[in-house]
Amino acid sequence: MRRIKQILTDGQPGETLTISGWVRTRRDSKNGFSFVELNDGSCMGNLQIVVDGEVPGYADSIGKVTTGASVRFTGELKESPGKGQRVELAASEFSVLGLADPQTFPLQKKGHSFEFLREIAHLRPRTNTFGAIARVRNAASAAVHNFFQDRGFLYVHTPIITTSDCEGAGQMFHVTTLDLARLASLQTEIDYAQDFFAKPASLTVSGQLEAEIFATSLGPCYTFGPTFRAENSNTTRHLAEFWMIEPEMPFYDLQANMQLAEEFIKSVINHVLTSCGDDIDFFNKRIDKTVLETLEHIRDESFAQVPYTEAIEILEKSGKTFEFPVAWGSDLQSEHERYLTEEHFKKPIVLFDYPRTIKPFYMRCNDDGKTVRAMDVLVPRIGEIIGGSQREERLDVLEARMQECDLNPEDYWWYLDLRRFGTVEHAGFGLGFERLIQLLTGMQNIRDCIPFPRTPKNAEF
Ligand code: 4AD
Ligand code: MG
Repeated sequence: MRRIKQILTDGQPGETLTISGWVRTRRDSKNGFSFVELNDGSCMGNLQIVVDGEVPGYADSIGKVTTGASVRFTGELKESPGKGQRVELAASEFSVLGLADPQTFPLQKKGHSFEFLREIAHLRPRTNTFGAIARVRNAASAAVHNFFQDRGFLYVHTPIITTSDCEGAGQMFHVTTLDLARLASLQTEIDYAQDFFAKPASLTVSGQLEAEIFATSLGPCYTFGPTFRAENSNTTRHLAEFWMIEPEMPFYDLQANMQLAEEFIKSVINHVLTSCGDDIDFFNKRIDKTVLETLEHIRDESFAQVPYTEAIEILEKSGKTFEFPVAWGSDLQSEHERYLTEEHFKKPIVLFDYPRTIKPFYMRCNDDGKTVRAMDVLVPRIGEIIGGSQREERLDVLEARMQECDLNPEDYWWYLDLRRFGTVEHAGFGLGFERLIQLLTGMQNIRDCIPFPRTPKNAEF
């Protein structure tokens, strides 16, 4: 079946065709015919359809062709005399497939707030904005796979249910088949031996630990899957369920890791700019007038590489008053990250060598005894989009770090085995896919960058 995207680009006047979709608008002319704007989701553009009063069923049924209704039209493609489209369809037949009562259909022609649209997440893909976001998300996913496949990386499917806490932040959703209501009524201690996995299990916060297994067996690999964080942060850049891309490479040090992260972001941006031009133009006109410029800039400029310690000095000397104080040893807040990338460097930056006290156990310790080979990529408008590191490959140092982080090395015996048998220098990173979509679209809120957002007190659809 032909889709509107194809018809708008290469449909030839004189062709007869059938097309189905959802009505965006209908306008009736005084001279007894109607214009219908039909969308089928294949692109931003609508197909204009002219329905003459002579078309069978016009008098009875044109009134049912309302915004949101699904309709099938057959007719001949003509050169359009009107502005704004090359071709239009002169209908000779139409049938209304599904009605959309104008009294109750929530999407009317006027613009709706994104807050309102979140409450009708089952209908928002029918709007221009959410159609465009869905197409950009699709193109960006393909670009992610292309980037790694072209470089010979292996796509690994890491588990969603896990019994380890990769980031050690304790922000995990528990997975259990125990009858919690019954246990509560009995007021007994939970006996995990009786649980499905015979030990506490959770939804994963990252596929990294398992990706390391494959990277140290089969070479460079990557994961691309859902991850879960039970952090109670109601911000415009946090979700409880988000998708993460995590490449992991043996024989890579931090420098090679930073280089790959930069090439990766540039490549995905480039793919989306070339394959979703109309959608990006729409975002640039309607959502954020700087989005195109920002993306081209990120694609073309080289990223700055800045040690954490130097970033702290820059922030201290900035003369800015931040809500959160800046001090060596504390984690950077979004406001600090954005100052550095938007105002100071005015381009993406890769911060590296963070204090070890604020980073997870698996990052490689530097010789200074204070910092680890961590890296965060910060981009304008978003702040942190990637977090990664070179991994600690020395067994004794890793065990000591686990003790320091209150983790029991015995629980991670298999992870430590990778350091016991054929250990190698290796590194990797994680890119938050919805933050990337925020960057690509200019959307303010991450909740609008995933089809069905999960956030505190919200999992309706
Ligand atoms: O910095 P994070 O926590 O790093 C890791 O999980 C590592 N295991 C990755 C690795 O080295 N393989 O998370 C990585 C990225 C962040 O930079 C951010 O873009 C995104 O994941 N992210 C979130 N996105 C949306 N909502 C949240 N709650 C997020 N938490 C992290
Ligand atoms: Mg991080």
